[in-house]
Amino acid sequence: MGNDSEALEEIITGLRQDEKSISPKYFYDERGSQLFDEITRLPEYYLTDTELGIMRDNIDEMVSLIGKRASLIEFGSGSSFKTRVLLEHLDELAAYVPVDVSEEHLLASADEIRSEFPHVDVLPVVADFTHEFDLPSPIVMPLRNIVYFPGSTIGNFEREDAIELLRVMHHEAGEGGALLIGVDLQKDPEIIEAAYNDSAGVTAEFNTNILEHLNNDYDADFEVDAFAHDARYDEEEGRVVIRLISEKDQTASVGEEEFHFEEGESILTEYSHKYTLEEFEQMAESVGFAVAHVWTDSDDLFSVQFLTRN
Ligand code: SAH
Ligand code: AVI
Repeated sequence: MGNDSEALEEIITGLRQDEKSISPKYFYDERGSQLFDEITRLPEYYLTDTELGIMRDNIDEMVSLIGKRASLIEFGSGSSFKTRVLLEHLDELAAYVPVDVSEEHLLASADEIRSEFPHVDVLPVVADFTHEFDLPSPIVMPLRNIVYFPGSTIGNFEREDAIELLRVMHHEAGEGGALLIGVDLQKDPEIIEAAYNDSAGVTAEFNTNILEHLNNDYDADFEVDAFAHDARYDEEEGRVVIRLISEKDQTASVGEEEFHFEEGESILTEYSHKYTLEEFEQMAESVGFAVAHVWTDSDDLFSVQFLTRN
């Protein structure tokens, strides 16, 4: 995504709020995408391994629900790591359409997928999936669209925005389409907090890298080392709240505007919501999806769900 004025305006608007915030989509410059990949390999970050295990254990059922000649449209595809399990088993796919804001990373991952799966029509789209975007036309006419949204990235949206995003996916799935989505579940807060406060400090680096990204691409001058990572689970809200805390009184500019930070003041960079199956089902139903199938691991840490359009 470019260095455009709309994005700069969005960043400045977030920093003007009483509680300053930066949208988590600005985590993902090339370095941020690499750091996220490192997070997925951390022992504390149970999400990726658990979701991958669920996919592997239930792949035959998933493939049969997806059906023949589907177009697989992945929101926030990143390195398309888990998608490979699907691509290895879906032998009559019409197309694979990975959609992501992180342009370089998306295009490099799409090239890798093309060389690993030469029979698949790979059509990457650089877009912010919270806004409408055009779908490319595959060479082979798809019989249906399957929107794939793994990783529990849905959790990074506040509940109302998550419902809006489900509405967009319902629309992109189209008549006869479906959504295959990864949803992280509520569990022992200690397990959750450890996942966002890893002992190697990778999540802390991922968090502060958002300021590096603004410095490099959005005309900002944050003193990155003067902000500290903070992540805690709010049990009442069912979400991890991730912030950067200013370690001193300081001022930073973004574009033409200056922002003052008192010592201890925070910038909210991300929420990561954890759902119960019941709450997520209500959200899905409110936009016209029916929960057709839910797979979980034996410890009920994570779920993969197949939602069909009513
Ligand atoms: N699906 C992968 C990656 C998850 S990380 C997995 O499950 O491991 C979240 C991904 O979503 C990143 O690659 C990020 O660049 C992308 N992303 C975040 N917000 C986005 C937005 N608004 N529009 C498009 N992509 C977005
Ligand atoms: C992409 N998303 C689902 C991750 C999460 O777990 O909420 C982002 C992340 N933030 C810190 N660690 C991982």
